[in-house]
Amino acid sequence: KPPIVVSDLADAMGLKPFQLMADLIKLQVFVAPHQAIEPEVAEKLCDQHGFKFEREKREKGAGVHKVEEVFVEPEPEEDVPEDKLELRAPIITFMGHVDHGKTSLLDYVRNSRVAAGEAGGITQHIGAYGVKDDQGRPITLLDTPGHAIFSKMRARGADITDIVVLVVAADDGIMPQTKEAIDHAKAAEKTIIVAVNKCDVAGADPTRVRTQLMEHGLTPVDFGGDIECVDVSAKTGAGMEDLLELLALQAEVLELSANPTANARAAVIEARVQAGKGATATVIVESGTLKVGMPFICGPFSGKIKSMLDDNGKPVKTAGPATPVELLGFAELPNVGDEVVEMESERAAKKLASERQGEKRNERLGGAQKSRLDDFMALA
Ligand code: GTP
Ligand code: MG
Repeated sequence: KPPIVVSDLADAMGLKPFQLMADLIKLQVFVAPHQAIEPEVAEKLCDQHGFKFEREKREKGAGVHKVEEVFVEPEPEEDVPEDKLELRAPIITFMGHVDHGKTSLLDYVRNSRVAAGEAGGITQHIGAYGVKDDQGRPITLLDTPGHAIFSKMRARGADITDIVVLVVAADDGIMPQTKEAIDHAKAAEKTIIVAVNKCDVAGADPTRVRTQLMEHGLTPVDFGGDIECVDVSAKTGAGMEDLLELLALQAEVLELSANPTANARAAVIEARVQAGKGATATVIVESGTLKVGMPFICGPFSGKIKSMLDDNGKPVKTAGPATPVELLGFAELPNVGDEVVEMESERAAKKLASERQGEKRNERLGGAQKSRLDDFMALA
């Protein structure tokens, strides 16, 4: 096999030879750019620069190697060292049957906190809000606009909720979507707190709700079990202080933390195209810190953070763990449930995106061929 000359290798990677020299010195290899290096050393250099080293046999001695760029999505960080972990806000999701009052409860919490001068104005579109508890500690609240979205999030393993507030209307009791929400929360092993809502309505029967909960395997504390149940009304505000206190307490017990310096990851919980903004997504940061200008991959699409808006529509430059933000800078509408993952460069993000899109196209083409074959077989 022909020798691997440093300057050739640099060329193949689109680098200047001197850019490899420093790496070589670190590897205790002392050569001049026109000299050859061992394949093992070449492989290490390729690895360090995001390339895969492959030697290619050629008829005539000219080319010595083929260098193919491969970029991979950074893996989530495991076993984070203690000293890098910082406390983060709990992520609390309101779930339940249609019209049982999830949005109204969230509105109440946000409004009362606005009144207390602790959070800003109201936005209608974003389904995620940052508020402060009674001791000034941040909490992140999530509204579920429809259970389908939550299912998708769960299915893709992007369920980032810490606590589920199961909203059950006291005049309606447990309904199909309530049951589904219970199943989701249980499957994802989330702490459930029940808010028995609409207690102000004539015909409200909070006791019946508790009995029904028991039938679904959730025994309320006042029935001798371990499920906290609070009677509330989003209309009058009754019981709301108790609910918030309980949430803060529960969050404290969970001792939630994340590493703000890790490679950034954020879950897409909502995506839409908006006039003047293009494709936007509401994301919640899981780890690391999102920054304006950061290149990223999100499923089959690459992007670069153009700007970020907090839940009050105010631009922010950075967003740390558990923060909900609206993200601008997608080339195309991202999929709910996908994750925005920080990439080292725009080039790397674009390459990975085109690879993924190519794979998808192939899958589709394969599928089309197969169905044509199926049609043929059906006719035969
Ligand atoms: P979806 O998002 O469609 O699943 O509904 P939701 O659970 O968010 O319910 P929403 O908050 O939109 O409330 C539905 C209706 O119930 C609205 O008309 C609210 O005004 C009313 N409502 C909510 N909470 C209460 C309450 O505590 N008391 C009374 N009287 N009405 C309530
Ligand atoms: Mg709602």
